[in-house]
Amino acid sequence: MSDDIKKGLLGIVVDETTISQVMPDINSLTYRGYAVQDLCEKCIFEEVAYLVLNGDLPNKKELKKFKKELEENRKITVNLREIVRHMPKKAHPMDVARTIVSVLGLEDKETSNNSPKANMKKAIKIFAKTPTAIAAFFRARKGKRIIPPKKDLTFAENFFYMCFGKVPNKDIVKAFDVSLILYAEHSFNVSTFTARTITSSLSDIHGAITGAIASLKGPLHGGANEEVMHMMNKIKKPENAFKWINKALDEKEVVMGFGHRVYKKGDSRVPTMEKYFKKVAKLKKDKKFIKIYDIVKNVMIKRKDIHPNVDYPTGPTYHLMGFDTDFFTPIFVISRITGWAAHIMEQHAANKLIRPLSKYSGPEHRKVMLLNQR
Ligand code: COA
Repeated sequence: MSDDIKKGLLGIVVDETTISQVMPDINSLTYRGYAVQDLCEKCIFEEVAYLVLNGDLPNKKELKKFKKELEENRKITVNLREIVRHMPKKAHPMDVARTIVSVLGLEDKETSNNSPKANMKKAIKIFAKTPTAIAAFFRARKGKRIIPPKKDLTFAENFFYMCFGKVPNKDIVKAFDVSLILYAEHSFNVSTFTARTITSSLSDIHGAITGAIASLKGPLHGGANEEVMHMMNKIKKPENAFKWINKALDEKEVVMGFGHRVYKKGDSRVPTMEKYFKKVAKLKKDKKFIKIYDIVKNVMIKRKDIHPNVDYPTGPTYHLMGFDTDFFTPIFVISRITGWAAHIMEQHAANKLIRPLSKYSGPEHRKVMLLNQR
């Protein structure tokens, strides 16, 4: 391959951003200048969502207003609820999530209005309503009654409530909240770049987020948290883990939940998520997944020097919380909507059509012969 081709846009800086900074050399990640670890310990998810969307942490009054706005927008239309109820039960929840945002676009009177004010309003609506519709599918496909959202609960509590009909203890809610904070934003990853690319043709926010969800679904990106759980289920018990992972590496398999395009010495989000995974495992009296987790991780680092990414600890954490495996990536979606929306608005504010070049390597120039001459 020619040297001037940067396959996968490897190492290419395509634009500026003020939203987040990934610093692989010092293993750090900041949102609007704040270290993500600090945000996890000192904030609730709504504060971080406000920060990502607006550029600064809210004061008390701003947070109250933002929470109220979210609570008031949680309800979905009867139309959307019925669409979700009638989705094929075997449909992948990521495909349902993609369709949900698309339908929200059909229902919004301002879909084509790309003014900053309209886009912020639409971002908040998508952020507030998508979890309601995803939770509705979580229950509807099991033939269970759909639970409408509750106003006086936090974002995380309300999601548990809509999925399970109850809110778990505060340590479980905190671990979930931390996972949402860690998933909120991560600079020019593939789904965010997809959202920015769609936006660059001056298309709308619903379309850009729909495309971003399709991109996130892939196992090389967000879909990895689901794949991690499939891997742990295949391993079955800690006694099998060492042999299983060594065989996978001998056979040159890609091990899900490991490696990263930017972080080569470890993902800055992992130590925090790992801490909360271990807390949840202790609360749930789980020893199995913790042991498998540690054995696979140690072999990956020792044999390949490849470190876990954030999807490695979130997978088993969501499993222990009671979520179905194919709902792990939709949970990523309900958080990342904030990052995508911020990037979509940033792209609109200083837009340039994204249109790279390609090197042609097909047949030489040739002439079309008439049918009876061929
Ligand atoms: N398991 C086994 N080997 C891996 C690996 C993994 N998870 N991740 C990277 N490698 C190996 C590759 O096989 C390659 O080896 P080689 O040089 O001998 O061919 C080398 O490390 C470089 O990997 P490469 O795929 O070129 O790096 P990348 O920057 O293009 O890929 C990912 C990054 C994320 C796509 C890749 O690490 C991966 O597929 N990980 C698993 C999926 C995942 O967890 N995705 C979530 C990311 S947050």
